[in-house]
Amino acid sequence: MSGAPWYLDCDTGVDDALTLGLLVAQGADLRGVGTVSGNLAAAGGARNTLDLLALMGRPDIPVAVGEHDPIGGVFDPTEGAKVHGVNGVGEIVLPRAGEPVDESAADMLIRLAHEHPGSLRVLAIGPLTNLALALERDPALPSLVAQVVIMGGAASAPGNVSAVAEANIWNDAVAANRVFSASWPITMVGLDVTMHARFEESHRVALAAGGASPQALAAMLGVYFQFYTPILGRPSCALHDPLAGAIALGLVVPTLAPVVPVEIDDTAGPGRGQTLVDLRGRFVGYPLQAGARHTVVLEVPEGFGDALLEVLLRLP
Ligand code: BDR
Ligand code: CA
Repeated sequence: MSGAPWYLDCDTGVDDALTLGLLVAQGADLRGVGTVSGNLAAAGGARNTLDLLALMGRPDIPVAVGEHDPIGGVFDPTEGAKVHGVNGVGEIVLPRAGEPVDESAADMLIRLAHEHPGSLRVLAIGPLTNLALALERDPALPSLVAQVVIMGGAASAPGNVSAVAEANIWNDAVAANRVFSASWPITMVGLDVTMHARFEESHRVALAAGGASPQALAAMLGVYFQFYTPILGRPSCALHDPLAGAIALGLVVPTLAPVVPVEIDDTAGPGRGQTLVDLRGRFVGYPLQAGARHTVVLEVPEGFGDALLEVLLRLP
């Protein structure tokens, strides 16, 4: 699957940065990256993405700035800064490199889909604003895109922003509803699996002994570990976006991923941002339900932290 052309939509972000490393180290055919406000503003996410891609030896990959505000709302950087630092990359200073292209993220996605009809794959690891906007601009998009892999949501795990909502869905629930309702094949990689995919202190130390890009990734993990340590009970962090990237590339093969109906709560009530995943088939092996279209990853093999470390240490 890594031979397919990919569009990445992200909010770079510490775990987004690890995902860029994974995609580059694995030689993914990354045709373009669009950024969206989430962990930080879309423009800052593009800055981080450009700097990281250059450090990783891929300054040729075009980066487009996407939507600053969620649909019908105003971007608030407060929560993202607590998790990823104000600059999104744990307050480390990256060597500055390159400029974003003169095209919006949504337009980049639409263009790439038309250039690679039936083969473009989309990996979305931030709020889904750009994807929703692209759907609005080009209703043919779902018929052109081969697969959409989304880091977002929680099928039966608790949320990480509210009792039920995961951050990427919460940050633009209206967009998420539109994206999940569109007729393209979606694979949802949510907190059910990503909270169990971890880097421990030993991984961070090993990464710090690598080349310039692994060292930078290890340095930005400081702030991210600080956020996750009280949540996970020991110095460690969750590998949300990298796990979605590894599943997208076929590096991790889920051991349980039923095709089930998924709806998004985009109301303003306490359920806002919840992914309503119909798991009623659980006790009879998830027989295919009428209208079910979304592949929801519920279990993956253990040991992803070790596998990711090995891949990232290949970076320059
Ligand atoms: C998601 O939210 C962001 O903080 C991370 O980058 C990840 O995409 C996890 O809920
Ligand atoms: Ca992200």
